Amino acid sequence: MQNQNPQDILATIRRLRAEIDRHNDLYYKDSAPEISDVEFDALLRRLQDLEAAHPELADEASPTARVGSDSDERFPSAPHSDPMLSLQNSYDLAEVEAFHQRVVKDLGRSDVTYTVEPKMDGVAVAVRYLDGKLHMGLTRGDGSQGDVITANVVTFTEIPARLAADWAQLFPLDGVRAFEARGEAYLKLSRFAQLNEERLEEGLDPLANPRNATAGTLKTLDSQEVARRGLSVFFYQLFLLDPETGKRLGRQEAGNLFDGPAQEPDFADHQQEMAVLRQLGLPVNPFLRTAGDLDSLNAHLRNLEAMRPDLDYQIDGAVIKVDSRLWQERLGFTAKAPRWGLAFKFAAEEAVSLLHTITLQVGRTGVITPVAELEPVQLAGTTVARATLHNWEEIGRKDIRQGDHVVVVKGGDIIPKVLRVLTEQRTGQEQQVLPPERCPVCDHATVQKEGEVALRCGNPLCPAVTAGRLRHFASRNGCDVDGLGGRSIDMFLELGLVQDVPDLFQLRADALAALPGWGERSAQRLLAGLDQARRRPWQNKIFALGIPQVGITTARTLARHHPQIHSLEEATAEGLAELEDIGPIVGQAVVDFFAGSAGRRLVEDLKAAGFFLEQEELPREDAAAVGDNWFAGKKFVITGTLSEMTRDEAKERVIRLGGKVTGSVSKNTDVLIAGEKAGSKLDKARQLELTILDEAAFLEHLRTADGEA
Ligand code: IVH
Repeated sequence: MQNQNPQDILATIRRLRAEIDRHNDLYYKDSAPEISDVEFDALLRRLQDLEAAHPELADEASPTARVGSDSDERFPSAPHSDPMLSLQNSYDLAEVEAFHQRVVKDLGRSDVTYTVEPKMDGVAVAVRYLDGKLHMGLTRGDGSQGDVITANVVTFTEIPARLAADWAQLFPLDGVRAFEARGEAYLKLSRFAQLNEERLEEGLDPLANPRNATAGTLKTLDSQEVARRGLSVFFYQLFLLDPETGKRLGRQEAGNLFDGPAQEPDFADHQQEMAVLRQLGLPVNPFLRTAGDLDSLNAHLRNLEAMRPDLDYQIDGAVIKVDSRLWQERLGFTAKAPRWGLAFKFAAEEAVSLLHTITLQVGRTGVITPVAELEPVQLAGTTVARATLHNWEEIGRKDIRQGDHVVVVKGGDIIPKVLRVLTEQRTGQEQQVLPPERCPVCDHATVQKEGEVALRCGNPLCPAVTAGRLRHFASRNGCDVDGLGGRSIDMFLELGLVQDVPDLFQLRADALAALPGWGERSAQRLLAGLDQARRRPWQNKIFALGIPQVGITTARTLARHHPQIHSLEEATAEGLAELEDIGPIVGQAVVDFFAGSAGRRLVEDLKAAGFFLEQEELPREDAAAVGDNWFAGKKFVITGTLSEMTRDEAKERVIRLGGKVTGSVSKNTDVLIAGEKAGSKLDKARQLELTILDEAAFLEHLRTADGEA
C-alpha cells in the first residue's frame, strides 16, 4: 500500500467507489444484497482510510459523503422535513471510547449521559401526523427526498390512523399541530416464518430474509398485500413540524450547528422523546437504558447482545445517543450522520454444525456451486440446514471436508456461508471432496473458463440451466409470473411440457388442469399470470431475459436508453459503458448476450410467442412525445379496485400514453380514475371538482387513445 503510486491509488479509490455504489444499489434499490453489512462496512472503511490519507482525491459524490438511496420511480416522492441521515458505525469498545472522547471535546464537558437502544435491522420510515391524523408516510429515499408510501403505512395495525383526543397535551410545548415520527419497519421473525410456510404451500419461492421482505413489502403497490404481510414498527425519533411547510420546526440550516446558537429543543432528552412516542400510541422498543460512563455503556451493549438470539426480530447492533436534546443540537451533524449518535454493530451471529455432505447446485448460467448440507441449527432467527461453499477454490483454501464441524454465519442473503472448520474436532474420518468432472444434472463434462474460479456445466441445454432461466424469468423483478413457482417449473421440465422460456406461452389450459395437484383454477391463474407477463414494464422484461451481469438496476438504465429490443441488440460495449452505473464488463456482457446464439434464439422465440409487442416496447418518454392523445400531459390519480386490470397495470398504461400518475389528489390533479370502493380520494376529487372517470369511461378513453397513439 505504501509503495503505490498516485495513479494506482486513484484507480483503487475509483474502483472502491464504484463497488460501494453497486452494493448500495443492491441493498437499497433491489433489496438483494450480495454481501453482508460487515463486508460492506469493511469496503467503506478501506475507502474512508484511503480518502483520509489522500485528501486531494476527495470527491463529494463519493459514497463516503452520501447515504445510499432506496428511491423507486414507481412511487411519487416528497422532500423530507429534515434530512434522513445514517449513523456512524463502530465495532469495538475502543471506537465507542473514541466517540465519547470526541463528544466530550466538542461539548467541553465530561458528564455526558448516553442512551442505549437496539439497532433494528429493518427499513427506515417516517410518518407525519397533522391535527392528530396520520397524514403521510415516507421512505428514506436518498435522505433528502423519500418515496411517498402513505397507503402502505396506513395498513400497519401498529400505527394509529388517528390519535387520542388529548394528543397535543403530551408535548411539552403548546399549540402543536404537526409532528413527525421516524422509526424502523420490520417483520417479526415469527411472521416471516409463517409467510414463508404459506408461500411454499402455494409453490412460491420463499422470501429471502426479514429485512428484504420488509423493504419489498413497503414498496408494494398493492396495499392489501402490504396489510396481509403484517409489518411491525418501532419508532426512535420524534420532532415537531411546521404544519404549513412540512419542515422540521426549530431547526436552522441543516449542517453543523455547533457554532450557532443553541436551539430551544422540543424535548429535554431522548428518554422524554421516547416516552412521548409511547404515550402517543406509537410503538417504541422496550429496551432503553442510560449510561453515564463507558463501563455501564459496555454492560448495556453486552446485555443487549446476549438478548439478541431470543428476540422475535432482527437487530444488528445497538444505537448509542447523547441523551440531552440540547447537547444533540450543539453537536450537530456531518453530511452523513449526526455527531451525537453511534451505531455499535454486533459481530455476525455464528453457529456450529456438522457438515454431512457436499452437494452440487447448477445455476442459470451453468455455474456449479458446492453446497454444504448441515445438521439443522438455529441461526439469527431461522433454522439453517444448508450453506453455500461458493466454489472449489474456497473449499480448498478453507480445507472443508465432509464430516467436519464448521462455523456458519449469515451474509447479506438468505443462504448462510461456512466461515471456517473446527479442525480441532476432526476425528480422521472426514473426507475431502474433489471438484466434479461431470455436471451432476446432465453428466456433461464441466469446464472452467480462463481466469475464472467458477466451474461450469459445458452443456447449454442442461436442464438445471434451463430451470434456472425459467425461475429467473418468472421472478419478482422479472416477469413476476403469478402462479409459476420453482416446483411447477421443475415439474413442467420433467414432464417435457416446456423446454425453455418461450414454451411457457404455448401452455394450454386443459393440459395444465390435468397435471397432478392442478385444476381449472390453478391453470387459469397461470395463464392469466403469463398474459400479464406480456405487459410487464420494459425494464422487467430486460431483467427477465437473464443477461449475465444485468440486475434490475442495470435493466432500468438499459430500458431508459434503449427503448426497444433492436436498439439493445445493436448497442456497442463502448456505447453501453457510457451509461450511468454501467461499466465495460457489463457492457460487454450485454453485447455478448445478443451476439450469442442462445440469446438471439431466446429473443426470436419470445417475439414469436407474442412477448415483445411493438406498443409495449414504447418507452415512456417517446410515448409522451408522440402522445397526441387524451392522456398525454395530464396528471392522474388512480384509486379503488378495477376489474379489468390491476391499479399497477392501469398506471403503466397511462404512463405509456404520456400521462403522469401520482399518489394523492390535489388541485394539480387533472383526472381521478375511480374503481370500485374508492374512498377519500374520490371525496377529495369531488370537492376539488376534478374530472372523475369510472372504470368503463377509463377503458373507453384507453381504447380511443390506443387507436390514436
Ligand atoms: S436513530 C440520524 N435509532 O439505522 C439517524 N436509528 O444506520 C438517527 N436504525 O437510518 C437514527 N434502529 O434506519 C436510530 N434505534 C435506532 C435505530 C436506528 C435502527 C436505523 C435507521 C438509521 C440507520 C442508521
